[in-house]
Amino acid sequence: MERTLSIVKPDGVNQHLIGEIIKRFEGNGLKVIGLKMIWMGRKEAEGFYAVHRGKPFFESLTGFMSSGPCVVMVLEGDGAISKTRAWMGATDPKKAGEGTLRRQFAADIEQNIVHGSDAPETAAFEISYFFNALEVFSY
Ligand code: RTP
Ligand code: MG
Repeated sequence: MERTLSIVKPDGVNQHLIGEIIKRFEGNGLKVIGLKMIWMGRKEAEGFYAVHRGKPFFESLTGFMSSGPCVVMVLEGDGAISKTRAWMGATDPKKAGEGTLRRQFAADIEQNIVHGSDAPETAAFEISYFFNALEVFSY
């Protein structure tokens, strides 16, 4: 069974989309095996998005991600990584497909409501960034 890390970003939480986003994942067969609300400081956001350090949007992105609380969750299921990414849609909501979460709810390429890991290696890093072994459950 594959695992992935998803985040309802601060704009998603502000727009009361926590339930909507979890419903999309659960309703399509993924299992929530870890879940919590956090508020990242700038340093924590920089650590999470370390792969983007040096890019023009890094300062703005980490400022945004530390601007309010997020909901972080671990999802489990066959093809969890690619399925989650497909339901989210493209990074830029203008390019996201019809019916995707970002197309439906996101404001722009940065404030795009939801995150999903993009590969097994990044999923493993991202899950361990927010959850310890006692906070992720097999059931
Ligand atoms: P994510 O990591 O959040 O799931 O999003 P993603 O894979 O679709 O996009 P990625 O390239 O990994 O970028 C991470 C996040 O950085 C912000 N971003 N802003 N202003 C820009 O050009 C720009 N590009 C990316 C977005 O919040 C994006 O989700
Ligand atoms: Mg990404």
